[in-house]
Amino acid sequence: MEKIVSLCKRRGFIFPGSEIYGGMANSWDYGPLGVELKNNIKQAWWKKFVQERGDMVGLDATLVMNPKVWEASGHLKNFTDPLVECKKCHNRFRADHIEGKTCPDCGGELTTAKQFNLMFKTFIGPAEESANVAYFRPETAQAMFVDFRQVLETSRKRIPFGIAQIGKAFRNEITPGNFIFRTREFEQMEIEYFIKENDWEKSFEYWLGEMYDWMNFLGLKKDHLHDMEVPEKERAHYSKRTIDIEYDFLFGKDELYGLAYRTNFDLKNHSTSSGVDLVYTDPESGEKYIPHVIEPTFGVDRSVLAVLTEAYCEEEAPTTKEGETEIRVVLKIPKHIAPIKVAILPLSKKEELSNVAKEIYKEVSRNFFAEYDETQSIGKRYRRQDEIGTPYCVTIDFDSLEDKKVTVRDRDTMEQERIEISELINYLKNKF
Ligand code: GAP
Repeated sequence: MEKIVSLCKRRGFIFPGSEIYGGMANSWDYGPLGVELKNNIKQAWWKKFVQERGDMVGLDATLVMNPKVWEASGHLKNFTDPLVECKKCHNRFRADHIEGKTCPDCGGELTTAKQFNLMFKTFIGPAEESANVAYFRPETAQAMFVDFRQVLETSRKRIPFGIAQIGKAFRNEITPGNFIFRTREFEQMEIEYFIKENDWEKSFEYWLGEMYDWMNFLGLKKDHLHDMEVPEKERAHYSKRTIDIEYDFLFGKDELYGLAYRTNFDLKNHSTSSGVDLVYTDPESGEKYIPHVIEPTFGVDRSVLAVLTEAYCEEEAPTTKEGETEIRVVLKIPKHIAPIKVAILPLSKKEELSNVAKEIYKEVSRNFFAEYDETQSIGKRYRRQDEIGTPYCVTIDFDSLEDKKVTVRDRDTMEQERIEISELINYLKNKF
């Protein structure tokens, strides 16, 4: 884990937030490569779950909603974790995250657990009065229920159909930690899939399969994934069945994603609370009912962490000296989500080479996110590209000027192929 955190910082994937002010505990910023990786994951998710399906539409709602939303959803009352405090060192813990009855830090006596609401409170407007209290959303899900009527009317979808959203969520976690695994500000990719009550078991199984398809796409090995049936007393207040999909993170097995059957709890409560009828009328049979919901939910930051964990490799590789080897660090990120797809590396800075290399870079950039690098030895440049997970390096050497060919090196196999410059784009397209 330390090696991954260090690589992320060193190469500009993820670094501590507000660092010049001494940082801020458990806040992490995505740097130039991290934002590419995260965006690629989000875009691929949107393509798979929204754009490639006829039964899904997207939404991008506000983070701060009318506070009545959180009353109706049950979050104001139920979105809590049990908190205990050490009477000696005053450190606070989630009661369900510690073993035994004493403080894990100093052995001191702990208070009895009290429920702590995780929602971030804020005030709207200049006066900090209780009438102006609002909350940052603790899940993206609620907007999909609150906007259900408008989405239904404008998209003219019929049940079964889903609404998907990607966005930030905020939780005042008692014990954030493990790098980007548990933070107070994070991103979710969520689907609320509206169904008829009788179809819930079939739909639940279907979405579990879709989630595994997605995890396979991210390169996560099946052996590292585990379904955990959440027992009734541990389920969220709205859920009749939940499976947590756990991943073997380097600090232990823990929740990556979740799949829940939310019944019609949310739509029913919003209908009662707002006074707006959220009943669905089947256009063919005329049957009227409040739709039930299957919710597959995916943490973006946990996706990034799982992808990095799965991709990190240390391998023995030959150096430029005959018979010598060294350890190479390589991020074997699936090619389609790698931050940089192609690196263009002229063997020397000489103008005659760099002119050709820059032309190639211009052409490649129109098709793939590419990087141009002419500093340091070619060995060091390959190592850097391996460490940031670039699938293909294209080197331009003096022979290229004569034979109009370049060398393409594959990140994973380190095999090199000589390719006609005029064929390079097609060659790369085929590879991706
Ligand atoms: N709408 C349902 C819901 O929010 P959840 O299990 O509380 O369910 C969904 O959260 C996903 O969001 C989790 O599976 C996880 O991937 C991610 N997540 C939850 N809390 C998080 C935190 N504090 N930091 C990072 N990711 C978190």
